[in-house]
Amino acid sequence: MKNIRFIVQPGGSITGRIRVPGDKSISHRSIMLGSLAEGVTTVTGFLEGEDSLATLKAFQAMGVEIQGPSDGKVTIHGVGLKGLKQPNHSLNMGNSGTSMRLLSGIIAGQAFASELTGDASLSKRPMKRVIDPLTLMGAKIESQDKGLPPLKIQGSEQLNAIDYTLPMASAQVKSCVLLAGLYAQGTTRVVEPAPTRDHTERMLRGFGYQVSTNKLDALATEITLQGGGRLTATHIDVPSDISSAAFYMVAASIAPGSDLVIEHVGINPTRTGVIDILKLMGANITLENQREVGGEPVADIHVRAAQLKGIAIPEALVPLAIDEFPVLFVAASAAQGTTVLTGAEELRVKESDRIQVMADALQAVGIDAQPTEDGMIVHGGQQKPQASEIISHHDHRISMAMTVAGLTAVAPITIEDCANVNTSFPRFIELANSVGLRVASESI
Ligand code: S3P
Repeated sequence: MKNIRFIVQPGGSITGRIRVPGDKSISHRSIMLGSLAEGVTTVTGFLEGEDSLATLKAFQAMGVEIQGPSDGKVTIHGVGLKGLKQPNHSLNMGNSGTSMRLLSGIIAGQAFASELTGDASLSKRPMKRVIDPLTLMGAKIESQDKGLPPLKIQGSEQLNAIDYTLPMASAQVKSCVLLAGLYAQGTTRVVEPAPTRDHTERMLRGFGYQVSTNKLDALATEITLQGGGRLTATHIDVPSDISSAAFYMVAASIAPGSDLVIEHVGINPTRTGVIDILKLMGANITLENQREVGGEPVADIHVRAAQLKGIAIPEALVPLAIDEFPVLFVAASAAQGTTVLTGAEELRVKESDRIQVMADALQAVGIDAQPTEDGMIVHGGQQKPQASEIISHHDHRISMAMTVAGLTAVAPITIEDCANVNTSFPRFIELANSVGLRVASESI
């Protein structure tokens, strides 16, 4: 298979006004709920990346007529909660954990069996976290050893509602159980130990489904819904993805002379940990033109260069910035002083082991980054990144984070295995070059 190598030349400041692609989490959910709704749902701003396209193709394979995406527009002819058909092949989720975990919840409620597969990275990611609650609800799921994909799911139209406390703060597991709960008899209740992204809850409400949320204490929340309702088609305007914007927020913070506006970014409070952490580090970030689009808050994010300082990252912010740590480690490398991350063991089971892979990558460019069981200690500001060759380990966010690291390096950094950037951020390279990064992309 063809792969892609990035070569980053150091130097330059980051300036201009840009729009990054649509939010990945919201794009996935728009296809899922649009397919299960009654009527025609239209989506604008859809992320045309491989992950959300894997979800789209899976629903087409289950008999849903979907047009697009074309220029971010998708039209979904919903089939209703009971209208999916058995696919005649296994459903390939590619690199996408969100597709596999959320779809498992939906397939658990179907009268048919189907198999979910994934690429080398996804095939190593833990699925026991969804197998356990779905089995309690009455689905029959076969996996590989230790709950790894592929998953063979024999669904049931008569799932049992459960009362489930998540063993970890995971929006994917929460969403999986809530989606299965649409097919269960009675009230499904999920308790999350700390706030995680709430796009499923918001979007279910947008499709006219009643979902109750109730804070139990400073961190924990219970979410409940009744099975057996219906979803009514709607229009979804997907904001730009704050997780993609994060690469440019860090780039503009660490490159002297930068002044960048990232337009129309989703600033759902369950996603803005990256802004809070960067501000604690001394970043100059302001939110302009705040407004609400289809039930999700958005803003233009204005970032100017600033001298960052090392901090102890508050653990409460970890689930709210869970996808942004690869690039936050790069920010920590450029900051003066020590940054300590704890309580982030979930990073070890993302598209790669992001603690080990980022510690290796930063050490390779000469940064003092020490991995710990549940986080990292980065002694920043001591030396600029040196020339090196990095491997992304099938992880798009490693490819993009190390591209940002190249900005303040003393010599070019090469990153191997970057085709994965297309899973979440098509045109990352064009956009990067348009605001002042100097990155070449080579097909090899
Ligand atoms: C996602 C939830 C997060 C995140 C992932 C997308 C979602 O995973 O890392 O990229 O869309 O629900 P966890 O919920 O497993 O932390």
